[in-house]
Amino acid sequence: MADGFAPQGSIIERDSAMAGLWEKLKGSVTPIEWRLQAPLIAEINALKAEKNAVVLAHNYMTPEIFHGVGDFVGDSLGLAREAARSDAKIIVQAGVHFMAETSKILCPDKKVLIPDLRAGCSLAASITGPDVRLIKQRYPGLPVVTYVNTSADVKAESDICCTSANAVQVVEWAAKTWGVDRVIMLPDEFLARNVARQTAVKIISWKGRCEVHERFTVADIADLREAWPDAEILAHPECPPEVLEAVDFAGSTAAMSNYVMTRKPRRVVMITECSMADNVAADAPDTEFVRPCNLCPHMKRISLENIRDALVNEQFEVTVDPVIASRARAAVQRMIDMPPPVTPARYDLVKARHHVDVELI
Ligand code: 13P
Ligand code: SF4
Repeated sequence: MADGFAPQGSIIERDSAMAGLWEKLKGSVTPIEWRLQAPLIAEINALKAEKNAVVLAHNYMTPEIFHGVGDFVGDSLGLAREAARSDAKIIVQAGVHFMAETSKILCPDKKVLIPDLRAGCSLAASITGPDVRLIKQRYPGLPVVTYVNTSADVKAESDICCTSANAVQVVEWAAKTWGVDRVIMLPDEFLARNVARQTAVKIISWKGRCEVHERFTVADIADLREAWPDAEILAHPECPPEVLEAVDFAGSTAAMSNYVMTRKPRRVVMITECSMADNVAADAPDTEFVRPCNLCPHMKRISLENIRDALVNEQFEVTVDPVIASRARAAVQRMIDMPPPVTPARYDLVKARHHVDVELI
């Protein structure tokens, strides 16, 4: 090894794929960790083959999961599309509960497993199906666009789902299809405010927040600019609008990754969950990553150990009531059926600086 240390030497010697993986991960994984991780990765990959299972890994998984055992990796939209296409018998969702529910909604005949049932989401927890029913009574005739970061109950009350990658496209489609100039967009206040600045459609939203992205501030961006004046700063649209006003690029996790892989900036900062930068850095050796770290405690409940246990014991199965699932499927499927963007959608930062009112319920 270049660093004079050959972690888990026997596995590396036997398996060139593992050696390649170590080369990729060694910027973010220590040799000591790798000794424990390499056998687990080998075991999980063997179990997947034996059980006809796939692991769908979100961009916020730690690098050993993302690069080591993810069969499909990406943002919420990409993973939902992969779930719909998959012909595996078992889907292990290396992500949070709403993502596993989305997979189950799209694939009712497959066994969908989540390695830790406590992997929730502050946005999904902010609103319930009965809340949406009351909102619809208050605003009759307006379409309800719901972020995928919601429970199946909430999706079942919605007309169409969106993710941060297609939110503007979906909001404009809904306004046009319903023949209205306002839509209800739930439950992320900041995503709604950021989308409102990108479109002429007026938005009514809810006070849900992502507990990870709401913590980033304009002062953080100013501090980063002062410390690393040449760094390009990218942010997720779940951040407050003032943060988007101050950055160089905004888009979904897939859009941020695509930006780095195609533009190859010399130095970059990703204003999002910590693991994202580690995962992109493993594929972008020519870019230096400044890594401010806000962890998503829910995403971080998923580990190699509990993915292995999920496969061995076929636990914890995620189920959705069939009536709820069929109503939720209509909303998710409408989103999936929209033409995918050629490149992941970016938020126009000139528009992002124009303040637009959003009605909060
Ligand atoms: P993406 O849709 O960009 O993957 O984001 C999902 C998420 O949970 C962001 O916090
Ligand atoms: Fe939810 Fe935020 Fe965690 Fe994404 S990062 S799963 S939106 S709490």
